[in-house]
Amino acid sequence: MELHIATLICLLAHAAMASASIATRLSNLQLNDVPGSVLSSGVLENPVVFGYTFESGIDPLNIPWSSLTHLVLAFFNVDAAGTVVPSSGNPGALISVAHKNGVKAIASIGGSGSGSTAIAMALGTNATSTALVASLVDNVKKYSLDGVDFDFEFPETTQQVQSLYNALNSTRSAFDAAFGRGAKTLTMTLFSSKGQFGPNVPQMDASPFSDIVDYGLLMSYDYFGSFSAVSAPNSPFYDIPGYPGLSFTSSITAWLRSGWDAKKLVAGLPYYGRTTTVQANSINGTQFMPNSGAAPPGGPVSKISGAWTWTDLRDPTNGALRSPTMARQGWQRYWDTTTETPWLLHNTSLTYIGYDDLDSLAIKANHIITRGLVGVMVWMVQYDYADELNSVVGNYTKACERIVNQLEASQSSTESESENSVGSSRNSSNGEQSSRGSGGTSSQNGAASRHWKSSNVGRVVMSLLISVLALTFQ
Ligand SMILES: *[C@@H]1O[C@H](CO)[C@@H](O)[C@H](O)[C@H]1NC(C)=O
Ligand SMILES: *[C@@H]1O[C@H](CO)[C@@H](O)[C@H](O)[C@H]1NC(C)=O
Ligand SMILES: *[C@@H]1O[C@H](CO)[C@@H](O)[C@H](O)[C@H]1NC(C)=O
Ligand SMILES: *[C@@H]1O[C@H](CO)[C@@H](O)[C@H](O)[C@H]1NC(C)=O
Ligand SMILES: *[C@@H]1O[C@H](CO)[C@@H](O)[C@H](O)[C@H]1NC(C)=O
Ligand SMILES: *[C@@H]1O[C@H](CO)[C@@H](O)[C@H](O)[C@H]1NC(C)=O
Repeated sequence: MELHIATLICLLAHAAMASASIATRLSNLQLNDVPGSVLSSGVLENPVVFGYTFESGIDPLNIPWSSLTHLVLAFFNVDAAGTVVPSSGNPGALISVAHKNGVKAIASIGGSGSGSTAIAMALGTNATSTALVASLVDNVKKYSLDGVDFDFEFPETTQQVQSLYNALNSTRSAFDAAFGRGAKTLTMTLFSSKGQFGPNVPQMDASPFSDIVDYGLLMSYDYFGSFSAVSAPNSPFYDIPGYPGLSFTSSITAWLRSGWDAKKLVAGLPYYGRTTTVQANSINGTQFMPNSGAAPPGGPVSKISGAWTWTDLRDPTNGALRSPTMARQGWQRYWDTTTETPWLLHNTSLTYIGYDDLDSLAIKANHIITRGLVGVMVWMVQYDYADELNSVVGNYTKACERIVNQLEASQSSTESESENSVGSSRNSSNGEQSSRGSGGTSSQNGAASRHWKSSNVGRVVMSLLISVLALTFQ
C-alpha cells in the first residue's frame, strides 16, 4: 500500500514537473549515465563554451566570463576584395578583458546577409581568397586575437564549398606558420540542420572539414519562426510532426552521419525565442497553429523583429515571464513534451513565442554530454537575464568535471584493488581495468588527439583525406 502511494506521488510529481526533473538530471548527471564510448573519447576532459557577442558596444561587465572558454566577436566586416576590419571601433579593450579572464577571443566573419555575401565574393577568385587569409592573419596580429570563426551562411554551390574548404585550409596553414602550429583557434559555423554545407548543395563527406578546423559550431536553432507556416519552437529538441530533420537532436545526428567528428562538434544554445502571430480560430492549447502572416511584435528591450531574447522575456516591466516559469498577465505559458520546450501565447495580440528556458537548455546540455559532443555555443551571451541561462552552462561544465572526477576515482579504486589482490584475481582485475581503462585514460587520449594535429602521421593522413576530397569534388 505504502509502495503504491509512493508510486502515485512519483507519477503525479513526474507529470507536473516533467521538465524540471530532466533539468535536475544535468545537475545530477553521474558517471553511470554516460556511455563508455563518450568517456573514452576524452571530450569531457576539455569541454568548451563558445559565447557569441557583438564585436563592439558591449560592456565587459555583461559578459559571463567565468562560464566561457571562448568569446566570439560577431562580426568583423569582410569586403569583396577580402579585406577584414572590425565592424566598428576597436575591439582591443574587450579582447584584453577576455585575456585577463582566461577567455580566448576570436573574430567571426560572415553571418546572415551582407557579411556572407561578401565572403562568397571574396572566395570567388584565388587572388581575393588569398587576400582574405592574409587579412585574417593581420587582424589576429593587430588585435591579439586567438583565432577566427568562418560563419558563411551559406555556400550555394559545390564550387563554393570547395572554395570555403580551400580558404579554411589556407587559414590553418597561415596561422600555423605565423603563430606556431595549433596556436590559434579556427572554427566554422554549421548552418544547415541536415548535415549539408548549405541547404542547396548535396550532402557530402564533412570529415575533411572537421580535420582542419578545431570546432564546428552548430546553429541548432532558427528551425521555425515567423517565416514558417505554423507556430513551432525556435529549437525543438525532437522533430515536430510533419517536419522531419528540423530539430536539435536530428541536426546533431545529421552532422555526425556526414562524418563530422563528435570531438569537434559544438551544439548551439539559443538565448532567445522566435515569434509568430497565429490565426485566432486555431487556438486550442496545441502548440502548432497556422501563421496568420501578421508581423509579430519585437521584444520590449532588444526590439528584434521576429525574436524575443531572454532579456525581453524576463523584462520586469514589459516581459512575458515574471519568473523563469510563470507567465505575466495576458500571457499563457505551456510546456510541450514533444519538443521539450516552453511556449507562450498572448491572449489579445495572438503572439506565439517558442523559446528556450533553464529547463529546455538543461535538457539540451544533458544531451550534448551523453552524445559525446565537445561543447556548447551560445547565441548570444548578452541576451541573458540575471545570469539565469548562464547557470545552465555553468552546470554543464560542472557536470563534465564531476564525471571526469568520478571516472578517475573509479580507476584509482580499481588500481588499488588490483594492487591488493593476488594471483589469478590480479590478472582478471587488470583485464577489467584495461577495458574500462579505454575510458580511464581519456586524459591521455585527449592529449594524444591534441598531439595528433601536430604529428607527421596526422599530416600524412590529412593529405590523404585532402586527396580524397579533391577527387570527390572533381
Ligand atoms: C584557383 O586556382 C586553381 C588552379 O590553381 C583553380 O583550379 C581554382 O578554380 C581557382 N579557384 C578560384 C576560386 O578561382
Ligand atoms: C592545404 O594546405 C596545404 C598547406 O598549405 C597544402 O599543401 C595543400 O595542398 C592544401 N590542400 C588543398 C586541398 O588545398
Ligand atoms: C487543435 O488544433 C490542431 C491543429 O489545428 C489539431 O491538430 C488538434 O487536433 C486540435 N486539438 C484539439 C484538442 O482540438
Ligand atoms: C487577457 O488577459 C488579461 C490579463 O490576464 C485579462 O485582463 C483580459 O481580460 C484577457 N483578455 C482576453 C481577451 O481574454
Ligand atoms: C544547477 O545546479 C544546481 C545544483 O548544483 C541546481 O540547484 C540548479 O537547479 C541547476 N540549474 C539548472 C538551470 O539546471
Ligand atoms: C596472468 O598474466 C600472465 C602475464 O600476462 C600470464 O602469463 C598468466 O598466464 C596469467 N595467469 C592467469 C591465471 O590468467
